[in-house]
Amino acid sequence: MKVLSVVGARPQFVKLAPVADALAAAGAEHVIVHTGQHYDPLLSDVFFDDLGIPAPDVHLGVGSGSHGVQTGAILAALDDVLTDRSPDWVLVYGDTNSTLAAAVAAVKLHLPLAHLEAGLRSFNRAMPEEHNRVLTDHAADLLLAPTEVAMAHLRREGLADRSVLVGDVMTDVLLRTLERGAEPLPAEGAVVATIHRAENTDDPARLAAVVAGLAALDAPVLLLAHPRLRERARAAGIQLAQGRIEVHDPLAYPRLVATVAAARAVVTDSGGLQKEAFLLRVPCTTVRPETEWTETVDLGWNVLVGPDGIADAVARPRPQETDAAPYGTGDAARRTVEALQARTAG
Ligand code: UD1
Repeated sequence: MKVLSVVGARPQFVKLAPVADALAAAGAEHVIVHTGQHYDPLLSDVFFDDLGIPAPDVHLGVGSGSHGVQTGAILAALDDVLTDRSPDWVLVYGDTNSTLAAAVAAVKLHLPLAHLEAGLRSFNRAMPEEHNRVLTDHAADLLLAPTEVAMAHLRREGLADRSVLVGDVMTDVLLRTLERGAEPLPAEGAVVATIHRAENTDDPARLAAVVAGLAALDAPVLLLAHPRLRERARAAGIQLAQGRIEVHDPLAYPRLVATVAAARAVVTDSGGLQKEAFLLRVPCTTVRPETEWTETVDLGWNVLVGPDGIADAVARPRPQETDAAPYGTGDAARRTVEALQARTAG
C-alpha cells in the first residue's frame, strides 16, 4: 500500500507523527508532501525534528496568501506530484486550506481520498475551517472519524457508509510525548494562553477585548503568540504584554505538553489545545461561541466564553474528575492504517 500524506500547518504535523510511525510499522510506502502553508521554523521544522517525522519527500513552498490564492496555489502545485507518485491513497488531515486543496486535487485525478479527523462540525459557516472540513468530507472516499459525535454528524449528512470510527490520533501523540517528558516553561499557578483564529485576531475591537480579558487575570499568563496574533496586534496598535501577560514564541510540541501539564489553566481558541488540556486534566476556557470538541464541555472541563467571560471562567472551581475517554486510548493511528489497508483496491 502506498499512502501520500499532504500536510502544511502546525496541527497537521502533530497528527502526521503517529500516522507516519504506524504506516512504517505496517510496512506501507509513505510519501510526505509539505505544502509550505506554515513556513516559520517554529510552526514547522521543530515539529518534524521533535516528533521524529521523516523529512518531507516533496515541499511545495506555497506560503501565505488570501484563502483563495493559498488554496489555489496548493491545488495547482499538487497535480504533477499526485500524478507522478500515483498513490493508493491521498491522506489529508484536519481542516486547513492545505486539506481542502489536496482533497480537490485528489478527486480531480480520481485518486482515492481519505480524510483523517472527519466529521467535526462547529456549524459556524463563517469559519474557513468549517468550509474546509465539510467540503473535504463530502469529497472523500474514506472518512476517518475521531469521535462518536463526529460519526453522528457524518451519518446525518448521508456519509455513514464511507465512515469509520478510528479515535483521535492526537491522543496517540500526546501519550507518547508525555512518556518522553520535556522541560516546561515555569508554569506553576500560571495560565497558558493561545489566540490565533481569524474571528479573534482580525477585528481590532475583538482582539483588544480578548487581550484585555487575559490582562485582567490574577495569575501569570504565558501567551504563546502565533505569528498571526503578533502581526494583527501590531497592525491594530494593541500591546500584547499587558497586565501579567508574558509573551512567548510558540512552543515546540513536547515543551507545550509539559507546560500545559504544569499549568493551572488554559485559555485558547485552538481546537487541539482544548483536547490536550482535557487529556491532561487542566481546566480549559475557550474564547469562541462554539466548539467541535463538545465532549470537553459536556464533561465540564471546557467552557465557551466571549472576551468578557474569561476572568470568571478561569476562576471557576476545578471540574469533577472523570475517567471518560471520548478521544480514544492511543491506538487511533494503528486503526487508521488498518482502515486504509482494508479498503485498498487491488
Ligand atoms: C491555519 C489554519 C487553522 C489552524 C492554524 C494552526 C486555515 C484556514 N487555517 O491558520 O485552521 O488552526 O493554521 O496554526 O488553513 N504566518 C506566518 N508564518 C507562518 C504561517 C503563517 O507568519 O509560517 C502568518 C502570515 O501572516 C499568514 C497568517 O499567519 O498570513 C495566517 O497563516 P495561515 O496559514 O493562512 O493560517 P493560520 O492562521 O496559521
